[in-house]
Amino acid sequence: MDLDTLSARLSTLEQAGLDAIRAASSPEALEAVQVAYLGRRGELKTVLGGIGALPAPDRPQVGAIGNAVREALEAALEIRRRELQTAALDARLARETVDVTLPGRPFRSGSLHPLIETNREIARIFGQFGFVVYEGPEVESDARNFQALNIPPDHPARDLWDTLYVDVPGYLLRTHTSPGQIHVMQQTAPPIRALLPGRCFRYEAVDASHGFEFFQVEGLMVDEGTTMADLRGLLDAFAQAMFGRGRPTRFRPGYYPFTEPSVAFDVQCVVCNGVGCPSCKRTGWMTILGAGMVHPVVLRNGGLDPERYQGFAFGLGTDRIAILRYGIDDIRMFLENDLRFLEQFS
Ligand code: DAH
Repeated sequence: MDLDTLSARLSTLEQAGLDAIRAASSPEALEAVQVAYLGRRGELKTVLGGIGALPAPDRPQVGAIGNAVREALEAALEIRRRELQTAALDARLARETVDVTLPGRPFRSGSLHPLIETNREIARIFGQFGFVVYEGPEVESDARNFQALNIPPDHPARDLWDTLYVDVPGYLLRTHTSPGQIHVMQQTAPPIRALLPGRCFRYEAVDASHGFEFFQVEGLMVDEGTTMADLRGLLDAFAQAMFGRGRPTRFRPGYYPFTEPSVAFDVQCVVCNGVGCPSCKRTGWMTILGAGMVHPVVLRNGGLDPERYQGFAFGLGTDRIAILRYGIDDIRMFLENDLRFLEQFS
């Protein structure tokens, strides 16, 4: 082995290395080229292994050539590495291009549930007469749901409300919003004008017009000298506002333990205008609420003196009103949360 042979070998190796680097088309391939030429058992090491066979004075010169070849290859590797990185980035950018000029996808805004809408409309109308919205609890005591409302434990009127009880003795899911009257009377001094919207529960067989879960709005007015004529006038004004001016209304005698006298309040059927149709069971009238003058026992249970104060109360079914308002024939649709149904009210 002599100097010329060795330097010729080194220059061949450099050329082959540079070609291989340029030909490498991926970071992995480039890495393999680097290992093959510059690695611990690579080409360069192998060729330089021949240095020991040279005369001592020639060795530094070959060492210098070897270093130059190493540097040239390393520089070429670095350049190629950058090229490959840039190409990869370009490819990725091309793949992930976003056309910012495309029109956006419109997002759908939600809407209030028809029962909530109806409750708000009811509250708006009574609000014009000075009624303020209160809320009572859905889990209620037997004492307030029944006893304070003049319905003792074994009273037959309990049959009017098929009750769902909870595990705590003496508590139940309220069967109507009327216990809210007791809450309000115990907390507020007359004059009282309270509206109590809320969800109620009954152990009912579910069909098109009965749910085990439904909404009511309770109304309560208590003051000195409140009369049944005030009740009549207020409910009539409500019916005009809700179902249109000139809509005929009537009182029928009714029975509730917590009012005396008690009435059912009817509006002329909004489907047939009084002619008679399946919706009004051919009577021409629809009952939308129960009402009456607050029973003295109830006033006393609310902490008020019935010698001084009189009051009226009413309880209307929100579902009933919503059915008439929107022309819906099955109460169950309100709670199924089918978007095809709900979207019609947005
Ligand atoms: N709570 C009664 C029910 O659910 C409705 C009712 C009737 C409420 C007469 C009243 C009322 O406030 O005076 O059937």
